[in-house]
Amino acid sequence: MDIKIDLSRSKVSGKQVKDGKSGVDNAMEKLWSGNEEFTGWVKLPLQYDKDELERILFTADKIQEQCKLFIVIGIGGSYLGTRAVVHALAEHAVSGCPEIRFAGNNISGTYHAELLDEMALKDTCICIISKSGTTTEPSIAFAVLKEELIKKYGPEAANKRIYAITDGEKGVLREEADAEGYETFVVPNDVGGRYSVLTAVGLLPIAVVGIDVKELLKGSEVMATAPEWDFGASDYAVTRFELLKAGKNIEVFEYYEPQLMYLAEWLKQLFGESEGKEGKGLFPASLQFSADLHSMGQFLQEGHQIFFETVLNVLHPDQDIIVPDSAGKMLAGKSMNQVNQAAVSGVMAAHEAVGIPMIKIDIPELTPYYFGQLIYFFETTCAITAYLMGVNPFDQPGVEQYKEEMRKALAKQEK
Ligand code: PA5
Repeated sequence: MDIKIDLSRSKVSGKQVKDGKSGVDNAMEKLWSGNEEFTGWVKLPLQYDKDELERILFTADKIQEQCKLFIVIGIGGSYLGTRAVVHALAEHAVSGCPEIRFAGNNISGTYHAELLDEMALKDTCICIISKSGTTTEPSIAFAVLKEELIKKYGPEAANKRIYAITDGEKGVLREEADAEGYETFVVPNDVGGRYSVLTAVGLLPIAVVGIDVKELLKGSEVMATAPEWDFGASDYAVTRFELLKAGKNIEVFEYYEPQLMYLAEWLKQLFGESEGKEGKGLFPASLQFSADLHSMGQFLQEGHQIFFETVLNVLHPDQDIIVPDSAGKMLAGKSMNQVNQAAVSGVMAAHEAVGIPMIKIDIPELTPYYFGQLIYFFETTCAITAYLMGVNPFDQPGVEQYKEEMRKALAKQEK
């Protein structure tokens, strides 16, 4: 059984989905032609460089022996996919592997000072991931953590604890890595940040924490080889586009397992950065249920109906607990997962009653294999929808504007 998408409550008809087929075919053709920039991720699960994978696994073993604390420095596509996998699959990690922390995804002095405190107590390795090598947030964090590493181990030993994943040829990080002799991996030229989780960008850190990356790749391969892309991504893409045309400007990703928190963050980045340009795109939002039913639940049920919902439903969560008798007759003796599933169907029934379009994605279990499927499924959906919307799924010109203004503000500041 694979991940399964249910569009029966989406309010988009089978005919509409069928009518969208020519747009989908054009998008598929572009994605698979090999002629479009940044579409290297499409064939990645089928043509993975086996030697590189072996080197990733070998390096991950080495890092596991070197440290107890592994800090991954990066922002956006250079870290969110990894965080999504690690947060969701902690139960599937081999025990005794290094603890992972993330740095360079904010510019908080407090956050990074706390990391320095932790570094003082634990043997540490750091992994800087930046395709461009020039992004401000990871650059600052790298400078700060590298200084600390040098203080702790001395320059030569520190260099052996620094790993860099960046462009194969250019950029300041590439130059520094080559000059200092850091072990490096390459972000492929034809894969953009938010589509890079199944490259070394995601695979190295995920392997370091003891999660089976071969299973992750196997899951994505199943999706990539599905007959005629018949795994629901194209129907989902057309449905999303039709809902946008019908005035549903927001897609709310809803999940009932807190482990999916960073999957939702990655989805917001993937869809937001890929579609939101030229005045177009669906605004991706996320809610954690049942917590947010007691805040945003009111808005969903009775507020301004500018959204549709995509439910990420885990059928068999990692663990379960039986509710004791003291919880009362209706709950006693049931398992918590049973009650959680009652929440899923109850919320969907209540929202269906007021006409909210809903999409449900059933995930059999949170394992590396199914997570690999999810990654490929959402990447494909996103690229197809962006093409249907008439935007380039693989650039992010708007992100540059804040950087320019920030540079101006920095120039005005006194030290
Ligand atoms: O998806 C993207 O391309 C972006 O989110 C980038 O990953 C992000 O801006 C970080 O860029 P870089 O890896 O060059 O530091």
